[in-house]
Amino acid sequence: MSVTKPLPHDAAPLHVSGTARYVDDIPTPKGTLYLAFGLSPIAKGKITAMDLSAVKTADGVAMVMTAEDLPFANDVSPSIHDEPLLSDGTVNYIGQPVFVVAATSHLAARKAARLGKIDYAEETPILTIEDALAADSRFEDGPRIYAKGDADAAIASAAHVIEGSFELGGQEHFYLEGQAALAVPNEGADMLVHSSTQHPTEIQHKVADALGVPMHAVRVETRRMGGGFGGKESQGNALAVACAIVARATGKACKMRYDRDDDMIITGKRHAFRISYRAGFDDHGHIQGVSFLHHAICGWAQDLSLPVADRAMLHSDNAYLLPNARIESHRLKTNTQSATAYRGFGGPQGMVGVERMMDHAAHTLRIDPVELRRRNYYEPAHAVAEQPPEEKPLGRPDPHEDLTSRGAVDTAHAPVRPLPAGGNTTPYGMEVSDFELHGMTQALLESSDYAKRKAAIDKWNAENAVVKKGISFSPVKFGISFTLTHLNQAGALVHVYQDGSVHLNHGGTEMGQGLFQKVAQVAASRFGIPLEMVKITATDTAKVPNTSATAASSGSDLNGMAVKAACDTIRDRMADYLAERHQADPASVIFTDGHVEVGEERYTFAEAAALAYQGRISLSATGFYKTPKIEWDRIKGRGRPFFYFAYGASITEVAVDTLTGENRILRTDILHDAGASLNPALDIGQVEGGYVQGAGWLTTEELVWDGKGNLRTHAPSTYKIPACSDRPDIFNVALWHGENREDTIYRSKAVGEPPFMLGISAWLALSNAVAACGDRYPALDAPATAEQVWHGIQKMKGDI
Ligand code: MTE
Ligand code: MOS
Repeated sequence: MSVTKPLPHDAAPLHVSGTARYVDDIPTPKGTLYLAFGLSPIAKGKITAMDLSAVKTADGVAMVMTAEDLPFANDVSPSIHDEPLLSDGTVNYIGQPVFVVAATSHLAARKAARLGKIDYAEETPILTIEDALAADSRFEDGPRIYAKGDADAAIASAAHVIEGSFELGGQEHFYLEGQAALAVPNEGADMLVHSSTQHPTEIQHKVADALGVPMHAVRVETRRMGGGFGGKESQGNALAVACAIVARATGKACKMRYDRDDDMIITGKRHAFRISYRAGFDDHGHIQGVSFLHHAICGWAQDLSLPVADRAMLHSDNAYLLPNARIESHRLKTNTQSATAYRGFGGPQGMVGVERMMDHAAHTLRIDPVELRRRNYYEPAHAVAEQPPEEKPLGRPDPHEDLTSRGAVDTAHAPVRPLPAGGNTTPYGMEVSDFELHGMTQALLESSDYAKRKAAIDKWNAENAVVKKGISFSPVKFGISFTLTHLNQAGALVHVYQDGSVHLNHGGTEMGQGLFQKVAQVAASRFGIPLEMVKITATDTAKVPNTSATAASSGSDLNGMAVKAACDTIRDRMADYLAERHQADPASVIFTDGHVEVGEERYTFAEAAALAYQGRISLSATGFYKTPKIEWDRIKGRGRPFFYFAYGASITEVAVDTLTGENRILRTDILHDAGASLNPALDIGQVEGGYVQGAGWLTTEELVWDGKGNLRTHAPSTYKIPACSDRPDIFNVALWHGENREDTIYRSKAVGEPPFMLGISAWLALSNAVAACGDRYPALDAPATAEQVWHGIQKMKGDI
């Protein structure tokens, strides 16, 4: 069977030889025009005069358009139509497209785009959380609040209360391939658009609205992206729509790709948050109540900010059973890029909040941070399955006596935690019935030799003044499904040709994550044929309609199931036909090893396909899947938004130079739960990449805007993503051997986003190292850049 094999990415040879084709590599028709946007140089104001004569007469310029020239919808928003393609007279951030130039070359268009003379009546921009709160500038009328029990009362009566607040920066996607689109006008009103997008149906929709045509007149094709990471869920709309409009107006093919600086200046990034927490604990480290306050900087347009901020709330429990919880979330509207989807979709921000709180509490209560976490974990899956909480209250002894406390609290004899009213449920009322982290944590502690290394680090820190070390643990529990329930559907189209080769399409897009390979493995397994006989071609809105973005890590869950359904339809038809021919039971027809067995007869799959064709059997089928069991009321904050959870655990060890703040990751150990992995090689790749990207977010990737709203870090010269040399010196990544308890494709689990949050342990490890410089818990913000770390150390030493 092809599924479960650690096969390399199907396009790996193309990637490494430079022959994989991206939008910018597609041969363009004669006369293709190249587009560039003229951008607003101010963060807030009104356009009072616009003189584009120099733009129009610049070398190579064929056409210039402003909002007034747009024939239909001036809108590229994925949500509430608040995002004009070109400024409607108001500008909302530095980098907002004001006009578009089409020229005979990319360079000519870019040069001309700088020649606009535009006057603005400038207004004071809203740039910070304070600005936004003062002006009550927000999306939704007020804060959203999800609650369970009475957190304030529980905290007020708790034996120990800790509180804190920290800043959590945004993050640039830094996909290797920048945003790009190519629109080719076809006959009549038809338009073909090639787009580097995670969401071809969305591009189709927006282009159709902008051209004033039905969706059937627009076909969108996406072969692959050079990375998306959420940044191509909605941010590709502007390029595709601009290309289509100019292509319609000129009759020429139009291409647009953002230069790296433009990409960073124009497009949205991860939401920056301020997170404040208050938590009450009893003497044994059991959480009594927690209250979180989220301030999310959403930028100027709504985009996907509401579901992102919701997901942050839905992950502020992470792995912990909170008897009382309150999460208040403010979605602030600012004059900066419109923050958007980014791997984890708000989940990482929510999780960082509770993980910081846990380390802070462990330090204050003098309990080992891993031990404190384990005491507050959700109940294990088997306990829940065997003993429903209504009938018999559950509780768990603390069996981990090897991890002794550092003082005050008697960990070895901590009493059983009483299961709170409501049972093993999240703050939004979902029962956690698949909790894997008890076993995973124990296994990781052992494989990483945590206890011994921690003791060695304590010794090192006692003996060394300049280089301090830190070690930290962080778990992940990440909810799988789109919280907007109707998005959890997918379609597929499968053809079997007479020679037995299989052509496969589904609604998912390939961005490097290996979705195509996994889905091809599913198809090969259903037909019992070698993988080479299966081909997946570009995602195409004409083949599979009404698709969801490839996002929420659900690509293989949804499309794998849809493809399975389509394959099984064809397989059943072939089996019925062959069974009839041989007077056999259809259920006895076996597809295996590239062959089809019917009674005594053994055909090659190609022979069987040819026979079925000659028997006038349809060898083409669609497949459809929708995720079962989910329902969610986002206003009430109640329901089951997720089909299941994916789990992971990581331990990071760092060394910090206390004189400069410079630091590096010495060792990382990860155990990640991919269920019964469809492809362990690809999954380990996702885990490694996710961890490094998560660690980059929290340690080196710093976005800096100046007082006028200018993004000062808009190139790799000033924005530091991890390089190969920044990966941990020792990097042990293993998959947890389990099956999804829910009925997913071959019992696998989604793996795209969850590992990103394993990077939290890198940030905590830096805090842990800084903590060794004094006796307080250091209040590091994120990213904990070398400067931040140095500052933290100075504060600990009382020097500043
Ligand atoms: N891996 C690579 N190599 N490139 C990417 O752009 N995007 C991530 C993740 N892994 C990404 C990636 C994000 S944000 C998501 S939601 C998932 O892949 C999407 O793909 P999947 O649903 O097939 O896992
Ligand atoms: Mo991923 S942020 O859901 O594209």
